[in-house]
Amino acid sequence: MSYHNPFTPPRRSATFDDHTLAEIRRAAATGIYDIRGAGTKRKVPHFDDLLFLGASISRYPLEGYREKCDTTVTLGTRFAKKPITLKTPITIAGMSFGALSGNAKEALGRGATIAGTSTTTGDGGMTDEERGHSQTLVYQYLPSRYGMNPKDLRRADAIEVVVGQGAKPGGGGMLLGQKISDRVANMRNLPKGIDQRSACRHPDWTGPDDLEIKILELREITDWEKPIYIKVGGARPYYDTALAVKAGADVVVLDGMQGGTAATQDVFIENVGMPTLACIRPAVQALQDLGMHRKVQLIVSGGIRSGADVAKALALGADAVAIGTAALVALGDNDPKWEDEYQKLGTTAGAYDDWHEGKDPAGITTQDPELAARLDPVAAGRRLANYLKVMTLEAQTIARACGKNHLHNLEPEDLVALTMEAAAMAQVPLAGTSWFPGKGSF
Ligand SMILES: Cc1cc2nc3c(=O)[nH]c(=O)nc-3n(C[C@H](O)[C@H](O)[C@H](O)COP(=O)(O)O)c2cc1C
Repeated sequence: MSYHNPFTPPRRSATFDDHTLAEIRRAAATGIYDIRGAGTKRKVPHFDDLLFLGASISRYPLEGYREKCDTTVTLGTRFAKKPITLKTPITIAGMSFGALSGNAKEALGRGATIAGTSTTTGDGGMTDEERGHSQTLVYQYLPSRYGMNPKDLRRADAIEVVVGQGAKPGGGGMLLGQKISDRVANMRNLPKGIDQRSACRHPDWTGPDDLEIKILELREITDWEKPIYIKVGGARPYYDTALAVKAGADVVVLDGMQGGTAATQDVFIENVGMPTLACIRPAVQALQDLGMHRKVQLIVSGGIRSGADVAKALALGADAVAIGTAALVALGDNDPKWEDEYQKLGTTAGAYDDWHEGKDPAGITTQDPELAARLDPVAAGRRLANYLKVMTLEAQTIARACGKNHLHNLEPEDLVALTMEAAAMAQVPLAGTSWFPGKGSF
């Protein structure tokens, strides 16, 4: 006999929610794991969980339009003969040609140049469009070695040795066959149209001592001129930062788990790594313990969206930030004007993350010539420059309100946390208290 309960509506499980059930069905139907782009979509403690205090009687604010608040940053002051100076501490993260169209790479270069900041190559090597339109270009040296050649090392303004990414610390790169066009295949020395999965670790070294030798090699090739960055995914930021410094880095790039990717297994994006917020203080502590804070610069990335995020990262001790996803959105990615086409791909603007499939209606994450032609690199570059300008002004506004005449003078004392988790991770007091949990060591 069945019993129908007329009083309580059917109850869904928090553990087996709709998304989980759909994923189980998808896995059962296809037998393959899900691959997607972008960063983690789950909610993790983030910059939103911090607030600035601003100045009142105990601190003295600066006048918005009259008193200067400097935003410049110099990267590579430790060993490089030619450090780079940027007008804003917001840089463009490495995103490969291959993952992105040539027009998108050009637009990133144009936008960064107008804003007075740097852009970065990526897994696919350096394109002429990108070099030509980027005043300051950082060249990535990756485990895959794709697109690597000594001439481009010398054409770059700085070199970024990629050990890992926040979206997939410990994981390798992916570029699906549909994006391996003739040009991409040629630059990476790969057969056209075949899925590429690249190495998760550099074949040339097995540990920090070898990394030191590799960095020396790169310095010799570039006559000790170029700043050398080391990029790590946010996993063990205290030790990874300390080892990067020991290996001879000029700059450490630390990418938290919200960091975007062109393509990785969803299970990886959602379950491996640490939130960006949790990575910064241990990395800064490592630099301070070694007497290297501000001597070796720290660039933080992973989920940076606004001038407030920038100001918070800098207040926690970073020298600069890098943006990936937000820069693509500024270019025109996931724009609702393409909604009809997103619907045809089975998604919606704002949720489109199949960047590896190469069907991007906005012409950004594609190698399809017709789609790529939709992106005007000049107009897109201008949009990016506007966005970078707004973020810089926002960060400046906050810094002035905290009484600071340089963004780098922001400090943890300017912040409070809204949650216990954020208080523990950022090591700033819970709002209204003088207390934060976990005053231990890393
Ligand atoms: C489309 C795309 C392509 C990327 N390609 C690379 C790459 O080639 N090398 C790399 O080190 N990181 C790559 N990344 C990661 C970015 O450099 C950066 O770490 C990350 O996007 C920062 O997080 P955010 O997207 O939240 O700003 C890529 C990210 C995106 C979104």
